[in-house]
Amino acid sequence: MAVLEQVRRRFERERPFEGLSISCVLHVEAKTAALALTLQAGGATVHLAAGNPLSTDDDAVAALREAGIDARAAKGESTQEFHAAIHHMLAANPDVIVDDGADLVVLAHTDRPDRGNILGSTEETTTGITRLRALEREGRLRFPAIDVNDAAMKHLFDNRFGCGQSVLDGLFGATNLLIAGRTAVVAGYGWCGKGIASRLRGIGADVIVTEVDPVKAIEARLEGFRVLPMLDAAKEADLIVTATGNRDVVRADHFRVMKSGCLLANAGHFDVEISKPDLGGLAVGREIVRPGVEAYRFADGRTVYLLADGRLINLATGQGHPVEIMDLSFSLQALSAEVIAKHGRELPLKVLPVPAEIDLAVAQSALAPMGAAVDTMTAVQRKYSESWDLGT
Ligand code: NAD
Ligand code: ADE
Repeated sequence: MAVLEQVRRRFERERPFEGLSISCVLHVEAKTAALALTLQAGGATVHLAAGNPLSTDDDAVAALREAGIDARAAKGESTQEFHAAIHHMLAANPDVIVDDGADLVVLAHTDRPDRGNILGSTEETTTGITRLRALEREGRLRFPAIDVNDAAMKHLFDNRFGCGQSVLDGLFGATNLLIAGRTAVVAGYGWCGKGIASRLRGIGADVIVTEVDPVKAIEARLEGFRVLPMLDAAKEADLIVTATGNRDVVRADHFRVMKSGCLLANAGHFDVEISKPDLGGLAVGREIVRPGVEAYRFADGRTVYLLADGRLINLATGQGHPVEIMDLSFSLQALSAEVIAKHGRELPLKVLPVPAEIDLAVAQSALAPMGAAVDTMTAVQRKYSESWDLGT
């Protein structure tokens, strides 16, 4: 993680978090460990809980504990343990919150009467931003939150290319089935959906997209995908991947028309995109047939397979986004946490963008590690590019 490494070296010298406590709720795996160690190198006492009960890498937890980080997560932990760990993150009295999905920020707003010493938070993902914006709209946001998700260097690469690769990694890890020649339905053609659809097509799937936004639907169509309502798409699907941030995107009506053997996977933040209550209600039997693959058998003899219990497939049965992608996302997180640590008290109680200079600095630092180099404009070109008088 070449970009994060540069940040860590500066943090070691400057210690921007000296004396501060940072509570993080993130997917706890090796790349996340690098972020936690970077925050610690900046002087913070770091507490870390899981963003999802299935996304934890126990080896990363053990390594972090050895390094003095209060890591409280275990793969497959119960819902009770998962929530207890998040409560502990709040009980640790954080000055800064680093969140993925806004569970900790929401808890701070529901369990605490005031802001206390919380300077602010940074948020990793689209669903977290949706929740923060809802708090802001209702005038309830009690500390500033930096929207890392919408930084250019985040969603353009993490949501799109990260999911494009890691969702496939999760599918391979869970099933070991051939995807080429199968019909794959991708629900949602946002940043994640675009990446997933493109990569599924790349390995030979016949991809159908479902959308509720007419603009995104046309974008998918002009990329060459078929675009159908889920009720029609579900009849053809061998595989369905949801990436909407919404709930009940695949539900009873759709299960009733699916072919036997259909695989169901989710890449959205919460495990509500594929309705597990509806699946459970329709099934007359269910069994785990491989780790991460649960068969639901219907009375008419059909079977559908839910992967990773409907949780983020790329983290539950895959290894999460590639390291080069998380290098970008977590560099933005570390630098945004620094902004909160230094300026949190002066910032408005709003969801705020990542400062443009941070986005640009991360892009510049990523060029060489990504094997890219840019040209520079000549003085004449700079003038031309900013002028109304183009001499035409
Ligand atoms: P996005 O807002 O860019 O895209 C979501 C799309 O889903 C939108 O185009 C929306 O119109 C569409 N949609 C909403 N309801 C729908 C429905 N019922 N049927 C079909 N389409 C519907 O969001 P995104 O950045 O692509 O994120 C999607 C989800 O993935 C969020 O929950 C986000 O937090 C999560 N996420 C996961 C990972 C991961 O590693 N698995 C990474 C980034 C984001
Ligand atoms: N690894 C750690 N956090 C991640 C995230 N939010 N998405 C994908 N992979 C990750």
